[in-house]
Formats: sequence, C-alpha cells, structure tokens
Amino acid sequence: MTTQMQVSKCLFPVAGLGTRFLPATKEIPKEMLPLIDKPIIHYGVEEAVRSGCKDIVFVTGRGKRAIEDYFDRSWELEQLLEARDKFDLRDMVRDISHMARFSYVRQCEPLGLGHAVLCGEQVCEGEPFGVILPDDVMLGTPPVLGQLISVHRTFGGSVLALQEVTPEDTSRYGIVDADPVGEGVYRIRNMVEKPPLSQAPSRLAIMGRYVLSPGIFRELHDLNPGAGGEYQLTDAIRALLDKESVWGFVYRGKRLDCGTKAGWLRATTIMAMEDPETRQIVLSALEEGGNVR
Ligand code: G1P
Repeated sequence: MTTQMQVSKCLFPVAGLGTRFLPATKEIPKEMLPLIDKPIIHYGVEEAVRSGCKDIVFVTGRGKRAIEDYFDRSWELEQLLEARDKFDLRDMVRDISHMARFSYVRQCEPLGLGHAVLCGEQVCEGEPFGVILPDDVMLGTPPVLGQLISVHRTFGGSVLALQEVTPEDTSRYGIVDADPVGEGVYRIRNMVEKPPLSQAPSRLAIMGRYVLSPGIFRELHDLNPGAGGEYQLTDAIRALLDKESVWGFVYRGKRLDCGTKAGWLRATTIMAMEDPETRQIVLSALEEGGNVR
C-alpha cells in the first residue's frame, strides 16, 4: 500500500478557452462567470479549502488574469469600502485573498487535461495532491474533495470521484471498470476516456475531482496523445494502475455542471431555489415569463 500523506495542495486546470459561453467569455474567463453572487471558480476553491488544502495551484493560460486579480488583495476597493463605512463588504472582499496560498503556472498550449496537470509538476511533485475541475460545482457535506481525501487516508493511492451516468452519457466522460470493495469505494481495474456505450466497461463515470499520487507525473511524461489528439489524464491514470492502487468513490453530494450554457442556467436556478429570498424572485419571474415583449 502507498504511504498516505497529507493532501495540502489542490490543482485547478483553468486554461480552457470557454468557447461554449461566447460571447460572454470573449473578455472574461468562463471560471469568472457568476453563479448567483460568486464566480464559479470561488466554489471550487471553497471546496478545496474546506477539504483541508492550504495551497491552491492554478494552471492558467492567456486571458485568465481576472482569476489572479480575484484571489489577490484589492487595496483600492478595500479602502473605498472602508471610507464608506462598509466594513462587512471590505472584510468579505479581503477574506477572498486569505482563503489559501495561491500560485499560478502557465499552460502555454491547449494540449489536454493530462498536459495541464503536468504543467503543475514543479509545484505539486513529491506528495499526493487534489485536482478540481471547476466547471462542476459540487455541493456536499463533507465537501466532495474531502470525501476523496478520507478514502485516500484509509486506502492510500489515488482516488477518483465516480457517479453513475445514463447510457447516452458514457461518451462524455472517463468510464471505469471497477470492483466494489464496500461503502461506495471501488478498486479500479481499467478506465477509458469517452467511450461509446458499446465500448464502455460500466456506467461509472469519473467526475471532476481527483486525489492523485505523485507517481502520476512519471506517467504523464511518458504519455502519448489519446482521445481527440489530446494528452488525457485518464490514460496516465490507467498507466499508473500497473504500479499503484487507484480507487474510485461514489461521492455523496449534488453536482451542478456549469460547463455549458444550459448547465449554467440550470445550476443558477437550482441554487436560487435553495435560498428563500432568491426562490421568491425565481417564482415571480416565472409568472411574469412570456410577458416581456
Ligand atoms: C475530463 C476528463 C474526463 C472526466 C471529465 C469530468 O473531460 O478527461 O475523464 O470524466 O473531465 O468532467 P472534459 O470534460 O475535460 O472533456
């Protein structure tokens, strides 16, 4: 069994272009689109911090500076709010930069998720680390990454978040071949990236949360391009299986897919319905709907 270590770092691949949201994302990163009152990326960082991670590593690319500014101090804004006696707002703004320690590495070419994780090697090597794909906002207590870290503490190795998907959806995800070992935990035997249903080994899909052993970097270095001509993280984890244990965990929580316009709209509505105040706004807007023109 691999030695378990503290999972103190979490890597966020955020170099993607966000073409699905154009024109909204022409000048701002898709991760900065709001979900109610916070940018989508804020939810992922909150999850990592609540899971015990103290270092947040963003793998960024061109046009993503708004993310860096968001998690940095904003002295002018803080002073302005203070001068207007808006101390609550000042504290709220300041606390964002105190959530964790933030660092940034660049992914200079969009060569796939495996390549993005490899870009984080210098910061993450030598210890197990979390990976959060922030398009999926996960609502859960304990936080979903924290659930994976608990599995890692018990079993060691790498751990992937799993969710059962419909037959039509196997071609959208990495799909695992796995044996249950109890209480939502599976021992992964094999995995394949975005298979058509006829080639899917199961309907258990990998969702955007991982705890990865540092051994992943060796596999990422040896990787050849896979599905879609990209360097696939799924292929590197499959190669890792020959040397180390990889576990899957059917997480407990709700996934809000904010990676498409439809998903984002659905997520916004669901979140709004959770809070009595915004719920009322949604309900009265629905009554009004159709009468706007
Ligand atoms: C990535 C992974 C895939 C995983 C998915 C979860 O795909 O490659 O294995 O199932 O995230 O969202 P992407 O959505 O980046 O194409």
